Amino acid sequence: MLIHYTVRGVLVLLNLLALLPCHAQQSPTIGVPSLKETFKGDFLVGTALSATQARENGAGAASLIAQQFNAVTPENIMKAAILHPGWDKYNFELADKLVEYAQKNGLKVNAHTLIWHSQLPGFVRRLTDPDSVRQFFYNHITTVAGRYSGKVFSWDVVNEALAEDGTLRTSIFLEKLGDNYIVEAFRLAQKASPNTELYYNDYSIERPKKRAGAIALIKKIKAAGVRIDGVGIQGHWRANNVPLPDIEQSIIEFAAIEMKVMFTELDLSVLPSPWNSNVADVDRTSAVRTGMDPYKNGLPDSVQHMLAKSYEDLFRLFLKHKDKISRITFWGASDGQSWLNDWPIRGRTNYPLLFDREYKPKPAFYKVIAVK
Ligand code: G3I
Repeated sequence: MLIHYTVRGVLVLLNLLALLPCHAQQSPTIGVPSLKETFKGDFLVGTALSATQARENGAGAASLIAQQFNAVTPENIMKAAILHPGWDKYNFELADKLVEYAQKNGLKVNAHTLIWHSQLPGFVRRLTDPDSVRQFFYNHITTVAGRYSGKVFSWDVVNEALAEDGTLRTSIFLEKLGDNYIVEAFRLAQKASPNTELYYNDYSIERPKKRAGAIALIKKIKAAGVRIDGVGIQGHWRANNVPLPDIEQSIIEFAAIEMKVMFTELDLSVLPSPWNSNVADVDRTSAVRTGMDPYKNGLPDSVQHMLAKSYEDLFRLFLKHKDKISRITFWGASDGQSWLNDWPIRGRTNYPLLFDREYKPKPAFYKVIAVK
């Protein structure tokens, strides 16, 4: 009889456990140190937030984000193509949800991004006369920055406006509005959202030529009497090949012109790049292509440790300059979310972040924590 009731009791308990949300059953980060606590007082630690995460679908990511991070950047949902699909049509549903989610979880929102040549709505790409482009530019910045004024901490006002040689990238904005458009974007953003921090964000601006272009741009904005608070170095690098000397020099030079320095889209790819291969040789290309997704069934320890070492070195440098750095944001919470699984080749298995596909901390995570 006693055995009967004990077995029934165990069965009832198991059934009850099955009804609990899965993060309550077994969060892979329970008892694990947290990035935001570890670097409290040094810099914010953020993650890109996907649409799925903003909708709060997926318990694993939700508990990881709440536990580990104190800042979020919408990965896609505040880009013009999504927010502003027609001339007079705005779609704020997801972005509002993200702001609400962030408030609930104590996360500072870095809104991304007002003016970018990519992910533009179709109707903008079809505009031909400068006056219409100028009108879109004004409407978009004023409406979007105005709506989230007081609700987001900061804006990436302009994203990726520079070419590799430090000159302005060719884009619809440069072509139709002229080279003052960046100053104007900051001026409008400041007016629409006066208490929000305003940043310029780009990749490879740690490289000398592009960095010089960014410095010239920032000086131009300031000389026009317009506010810019910081610069985002995106940080899409390759493990074992992180350009530490250029990064350090950039931190120093951007801080010297009174910019808050941020690393805004950090990830370290472990996969081979197709651009290193000889694509002219068809046979060799197919052989190389076969080797382009080498870790589909798991990451070998040697690569795992190499990734961990790269992150360790990077965070050592970040801590050395913590007085100049205000935020480090990873471009995704866990490996499964990373855009690097689909770029530059779709459907690969990359491992560029600190948490694995099951939201468990990787050796790189522990190396980063131990740097402190
Ligand atoms: O929304 C559609 C969906 O409806 C469709 O079913 C699906 C099929 O492919 O595509 C979805 O759109 C994708 C979108 O991400 C949302 O997932 C686009 O194809 C895809 O191109 C887009 O990629 C984003 C990329 O920016 C666009 O340029 C990446 O997720 C995002 O991580 C990436 O982020 C950029 C930063 O904003 C700026 N710096 C570089 C960084 C990496 O490229």
